[in-house]
Amino acid sequence: MLPDSSSIAVVPRPARVLPGEGAYVLSPATGLIHPPELAGEAAWLRGALGASTGCFLASGDGPGIELVLDADALPVEGYRLAVTAAGVEVRGGSAAGVFAGLQTLRQLLPADALRRGAVAAGPWAIPACVIEDAPVHAWRGVMLDVARHFLPKHEVLRFVDLMAVHRLNVLHLHLTDDQGWRFEVPAWPRLTSVGAWRTGSMRGSRQHEIFDDRPHGGFYTGADLREIVAYAAERHITVVPEIDLPGHVQAAVAAYPSLGAVPVDGVRTRWGGLSDGVLAPTDEALRFCADVLDQVCAIFPSPYVCIGGDEVPKGPWQAMGHPDPASLQGWFIGELAAMVIARGRRVFGWDEILAGGAPAGTLIGGWRADHGTIAAARAGHDVVACPDTSVYLDYRQGDHPDEPTPVGVLLTLADIYAFRPVPSELTEAEAARVLGGQAQIWTEFMDSGRRIDYMAYPRLCAFAEAVWSGPGDYAEFEGRLVSAHLARLDALGVEYRPLAGPHPWQTRPDAPGWPRERADREAELLELTKDIRGV
Ligand code: ACM
Repeated sequence: MLPDSSSIAVVPRPARVLPGEGAYVLSPATGLIHPPELAGEAAWLRGALGASTGCFLASGDGPGIELVLDADALPVEGYRLAVTAAGVEVRGGSAAGVFAGLQTLRQLLPADALRRGAVAAGPWAIPACVIEDAPVHAWRGVMLDVARHFLPKHEVLRFVDLMAVHRLNVLHLHLTDDQGWRFEVPAWPRLTSVGAWRTGSMRGSRQHEIFDDRPHGGFYTGADLREIVAYAAERHITVVPEIDLPGHVQAAVAAYPSLGAVPVDGVRTRWGGLSDGVLAPTDEALRFCADVLDQVCAIFPSPYVCIGGDEVPKGPWQAMGHPDPASLQGWFIGELAAMVIARGRRVFGWDEILAGGAPAGTLIGGWRADHGTIAAARAGHDVVACPDTSVYLDYRQGDHPDEPTPVGVLLTLADIYAFRPVPSELTEAEAARVLGGQAQIWTEFMDSGRRIDYMAYPRLCAFAEAVWSGPGDYAEFEGRLVSAHLARLDALGVEYRPLAGPHPWQTRPDAPGWPRERADREAELLELTKDIRGV
């Protein structure tokens, strides 16, 4: 029996689904027609469906699948997918729109169609329907911290594939931090020969002072990063690089001590608190930043370059005897922003950089609850909503004592689903400056792709729906997830968190956490954001 359109259960939820009669059955005879501009999308589809179904979609005029560009009739990332018993048409407002439509098409097939090899003989039936769809938000991002724990390149590529399944379109790569420098810069070789390695790591959150003595490290070469960028671009995902400056640089200072305001004790092995690893306000440090940004711009075509700017302690500048340490964060951000702009890119920084008066045209990552997003939009900046109390995926997803390394506030699947990038306090004009939302995956407590799977999925499915589809009914989403989408994640080999809680092997009794109450975290953030809220 072939599936009918009542079986349509796509994640993220399309804007409109009009059921039809019957189904199109994919077969080895199915052809694929496309204009030359969509050769990349056609190649992706052939690879994805050929491997799992044995239907390799030869070029041809016969009945089958047709890809069409239709910028006049459709929104830029929108698509219209029409399936009848005679064939399939995927029409997009751009190549990105067509690609989004192909992701939906893949979800209309049985879950086995998402595997990398054939396990079933079919029939590969696609229920007849018309689906019209477009995203609610342009920036549908995920920040991946590859500094706290290095994530091997093949895992990053796999992460990109999973983003594409969920129509997420910005991968913000947090490439450097106190605990590791992961970005090769030829003019400064010790950044990776020294700064990419540490002697051990804290296990669990900092309250417990437990350490292992297992060395950890790794970095990406320029070629690795170019490969990631190209692979993501084929999937209509922009990789936005972050070099976190002028704080969070203990690894760089361990490699080149003269860059630091004060000495540091090697590449950092502990989490939390603020490291003294802060750049000194010197010509050498500015030369270092310029060289790093040259290399960033040579590798990443992203229109945005993130210079970090978060959580910079003033103590090290005070300790070096600077007469006006309070002014140095604003001075550094001004210098770094000028370098980014001189290289033809737009500045992206965390919401702390609002305090020094970020230059016009800066994009802000509003992370301290909604305060950063509100302050940035009111100051006339474009902003991406990244609130830690809503979309930090390192935060615990259950209240159960078995939840692995439970830190931060409770962010259940339903909480993530309820995320709204645009704070209700904003006027319509201010709200228009919110480009979208971004989930953060800080990896202090995720030392492998398996751990990232557990923390990210299925919460990223809920996040994707919040930023692509907009508000929905959580119970209906959960129904779609359970009836159809978890089987897709299984087929894709994702070790997601079961809805009822962790499998025994997913617990971390050896790495205890520090759960926070929401009210306490919110009070803390209210205090920390006084300077950007103008109170
Ligand atoms: C951040 O969480 N420090 C951006």
